Amino acid sequence: MLRRPRRNRRSAAIRGLAQETHLSPGHLVQPLFLVDGKGVREEISSLPGSFRLSTDEALKEVESCMELGVKSFIAFPKVADELKDKRATHSYSNDNFYLHAARDIKARFPEACLISDVAMDPYSSDGHDGFVYGGQIVNDETLHILQKMALAQAEAGFDILGPSDMMDGRVEAIRIALDEAGYNNTGIMSYTAKYASAFYGPFRDALDSAPKAGAEDIPKDKKTYQMNPANRREALIEGELDTMEGADFLMVKPALNYLDVIFLMKQSFELPIAAYHVSGECAMLLAACRNGWLDYQQAMPETLLSIRRAGADVIITYFAKDFAKMARGRRE
Ligand code: PBG
Repeated sequence: MLRRPRRNRRSAAIRGLAQETHLSPGHLVQPLFLVDGKGVREEISSLPGSFRLSTDEALKEVESCMELGVKSFIAFPKVADELKDKRATHSYSNDNFYLHAARDIKARFPEACLISDVAMDPYSSDGHDGFVYGGQIVNDETLHILQKMALAQAEAGFDILGPSDMMDGRVEAIRIALDEAGYNNTGIMSYTAKYASAFYGPFRDALDSAPKAGAEDIPKDKKTYQMNPANRREALIEGELDTMEGADFLMVKPALNYLDVIFLMKQSFELPIAAYHVSGECAMLLAACRNGWLDYQQAMPETLLSIRRAGADVIITYFAKDFAKMARGRRE
């Protein structure tokens, strides 16, 4: 036999030389669920190990992640019901604790990269990412609201804004609003190919942000704006638009059921590709590990590596901190 592929697998040192894909804490983004108050640390029952945190607790979390080499965070607000309305006005109010939390985090950790969420759902009494009228999600009216939200977030000091709403034209609308106000250094990580997925359940539990079921005139799902899970080429249309409209990162979401889409986006665009390893995907793995059916120490890093191998430059995952802990353990 002239060729014996096993020669390159003989020892850990040789395997290291031949390794094609690498994953380190610097590739990862840790999500943070923020809530108003003090000393709050509530575990999310459908996503064990993830918590709703008040700002003081979030600062501790950011500090421990930074020490482990995870320096990027994506923050989502859990908003009290009485502050929600049809037009998500609280999202850009001066009283919005989420904006204050961003200021506090950036003041304590200026070197951290803080990413926002631009979408109406955490603030919407209808539980939708856009403005609901006559049973429809009204695209262009939503853009004005997103622009206000984006400006408030840029002012609060977020480094990168994350439009997750899937309205047409939102990246351009946000880019123009930011530039006109002088925030030309605030970046945009666009949720480019975001699918109408069943895997967002634990996230919606965490924020209590699911579409309001039962109410008439409110669509029960997000299928008129998030993408059909059956489609791949359509992601290219979204990718071209976001590139032209000024996005700095293109995201695919979810990650594991969409590795082919991540691969395609990496081949097709020059911008860095982010993948969102979403709550339901993490919850599945945690459930199997808790049952003793899978080994977390092995299954979790293999999962993240597969997302990198598919082509993701950046991975947003609820396992970011855990991965960094493991990586440190291996080095020591
Ligand atoms: C909503 C938003 C969602 C997620 C991020 N931003 C949920 C949704 O679209 O309903 C999901 C993230 C996750 O499941 O981890 N703007």
